[in-house]
Amino acid sequence: MVIFGGAGDLARRKLFPALYSLHRNQLIDQRFSVLGVGRSERSADEYREIVRDSINRYARVDVEDEEEWSSFVEKFDFVSLDVKTPAGYQRLREAVEERERRYTIPGNRLFYLAVAPELFGPVAARLKEGGLTESDGWKRLLIEKPFGRDYPSAEDLQAQIAGSFKEEEIYRIDHYLGKEMVQNIEVIRFANTLFENMWNNRYISNVQITASETVGVEDRASYYDRAGALRDMVQNHILQILMMVAMEPPSRLKPEAIHDEKVKVLRSLRRWRGDDVKRYMVRGQYTGGYLQEKEVPAYRDEENVPADSDNETFVAGKLYIDNFRWSGVPFYIRTGKRMEEKATEVVIQFKDVPKNLYFNKTNDLGPNLLVIKINPEEGLSLQINAKKPGTDNEVVPIVMDFCNNCQEESPEAYESLIHDALEGDRTFFTRWDEVSLAWKFVDPIRQAWDQEGADTLTFYEAGSNGPKEADALLIQDGFRWHSPY
Ligand code: BG6
Repeated sequence: MVIFGGAGDLARRKLFPALYSLHRNQLIDQRFSVLGVGRSERSADEYREIVRDSINRYARVDVEDEEEWSSFVEKFDFVSLDVKTPAGYQRLREAVEERERRYTIPGNRLFYLAVAPELFGPVAARLKEGGLTESDGWKRLLIEKPFGRDYPSAEDLQAQIAGSFKEEEIYRIDHYLGKEMVQNIEVIRFANTLFENMWNNRYISNVQITASETVGVEDRASYYDRAGALRDMVQNHILQILMMVAMEPPSRLKPEAIHDEKVKVLRSLRRWRGDDVKRYMVRGQYTGGYLQEKEVPAYRDEENVPADSDNETFVAGKLYIDNFRWSGVPFYIRTGKRMEEKATEVVIQFKDVPKNLYFNKTNDLGPNLLVIKINPEEGLSLQINAKKPGTDNEVVPIVMDFCNNCQEESPEAYESLIHDALEGDRTFFTRWDEVSLAWKFVDPIRQAWDQEGADTLTFYEAGSNGPKEADALLIQDGFRWHSPY
């Protein structure tokens, strides 16, 4: 495994801990080796120190046995090179081949691009020029987001990497697809008569997808202020969840069959442009406020954010999937920073019974809700109506709860994804047609907002649940956001 950005933030926070967990759980072949690539000069020992420090800080398992630790860390080495210039790739190739000989690795190569997005294309091209993509084993390219910043730039990037890797060798990461409960959506749907029979416009009144965060822009203003929540969260994570919720059952549990069904959802997704954007989409930015009893600054007062920034830190929308299954069912989406709580969830709200036999002043039948909790809580809850014990037909909503990670901790998203990439399973990576259609949905919305500028921006207080305009999207249809807290 060759990690470009081998000593960077992603490697330290996510990749080393994931590799260590896989190693501890014996999910990684012993004939395994990691070469970190970066600009600075570093000895193998210095690099191994960085790995150790990352495990101490971020891993969910501790180092208990020094012998076992050594067998892991000795597999790490570092190659210093300027990734933009061809010169160093010869050295990298020699280092890779030397390690393959030492550990009898049959030429299987996984290249992980944990670098700035503008380097994705050039590095892929240099790998081919430097002969690194020629080997007797398999070769795979793991690529982080963002995959472009709109459709044309994504298409350019695709053309650049397609010159070096075939589509089936490209593993585009959307880390939400590595989350246990996102992967569980398909199982819940397709392994249960109870849900699958009702998973359509005859029984479902609306679907809500929420990904709220408490963090602000942190130290990423230079990226985030140019990206905004639409590109940062909707184009990828939210649309991926939407596809998982709305897709038809695949003919087989094979990546291609699954991707074929996912992509059909995006083809049926109604595109908003011009005035539709005003009606169906809301963008917001946080002002100062209180979060968990601490005062937090407005987005415009955050470090490195221009004081007049019109960037959105929140997006909500009402979407429609125009096909047989979903015609007429609104899919409400929302995501934002500095909201009241961290919560990612999908809510399926079922239609009311045809006649409420229990209607009276005290009974207020709640809707049946299936809540798929993705993060940080993982689980399912089902809200139904039942008789309150000891009363005459007093009906109350009750909730059946299942916790997915209470007995045993779930693996981190990066653990599953790295493991799948090593196994050659592309199910939970994104295919090019998904990415391109997602941009084609997002681009006209972005254009409408950019054209109208600041007029389209609403504001919400940090620590709240977003602007009132986002609530209005549902209220006008007779619904309200489910509160995850
Ligand atoms: C990333 C976004 O893709 O996802 C971040 O760039 C966001 O802005 C993060 O904070 C959220 O991921 P998670 O796993 O914490 O929900």
